[in-house]
Amino acid sequence: MEFNLLRQEISQELKDFGAKKIKQHKIYVPRATQKTLRSLAKVLEEIRQHGLPKYLVLKKLKKGLGYGIFLHPEAKPILKGDVIAPYSGEVSLSPQNQSNSSDYIFSLLIDLHLTRKEQHFWDPKRCYHPRRLYSIDLDACKKGNFTRFINHSEKPNIEAKFLRIPKNSFGLLPAPFEVFYIAKKTIRPGEQLLVCYEGAEDKSYWGALNIKPFPMTPKTFQINSSLEIVEVLI
Ligand SMILES: C[S@@+](CC[C@H](N)C(=O)[O-])C[C@H]1O[C@@H](n2cnc3c(N)ncnc32)[C@H](O)[C@@H]1O
Repeated sequence: MEFNLLRQEISQELKDFGAKKIKQHKIYVPRATQKTLRSLAKVLEEIRQHGLPKYLVLKKLKKGLGYGIFLHPEAKPILKGDVIAPYSGEVSLSPQNQSNSSDYIFSLLIDLHLTRKEQHFWDPKRCYHPRRLYSIDLDACKKGNFTRFINHSEKPNIEAKFLRIPKNSFGLLPAPFEVFYIAKKTIRPGEQLLVCYEGAEDKSYWGALNIKPFPMTPKTFQINSSLEIVEVLI
């Protein structure tokens, strides 16, 4: 697997700009706990060594769903709160709703107002408009890690958390904001890893694609000991 980008790819300018907007807009970004940092350091080492961690399996599903990620049938369960991985990719700033429509985009910060000076710096080709809104998005289309293959469910076993990485003793680069996939409940061997692509107030993902997502839970498709996908009818 060639998708082995460890963390989000973001310029120092954009990191500083995002941190400034978080402060200005009074957005609460929780600080990652020591437990999260330890779990993150462990996962990053797996990705560094193997790309796809040894305890996960990438398999193509039927029904036009593309690939999906499963917990290996012989792996230990993943426990609630364990870090699955950072949702990594290329981070950029662009006018809201005008960014390219990749299936792998995650909006990190939305509804950002830019001053004249900021628009001139970040968006020099457009004329200044005080009411134009911008967003900072992460796109895993060209670069990312295995999390880009995690499919959607209304009943997921993973949640996306927006966290700040403080200075730490785990050798992790601090970040004022970053998205992490974290286990929402115990994930059992053979189950598919699934996350909900939409938040309570943000119903934009499927609406923009104009399709209805296939309803599946972590148990709908599972892999057996021969690493074949089986559909489990419940
Ligand atoms: C982030 S990608 C997930 C990985 C994707 N299956 C692949 O092979 O690259 C998101 C895309 O996967 C497909 N997908 C994920 N979950 C789905 C679901 N529940 N129903 C239908 N399509 C889904 C859609 O095409 C969606 O735009």
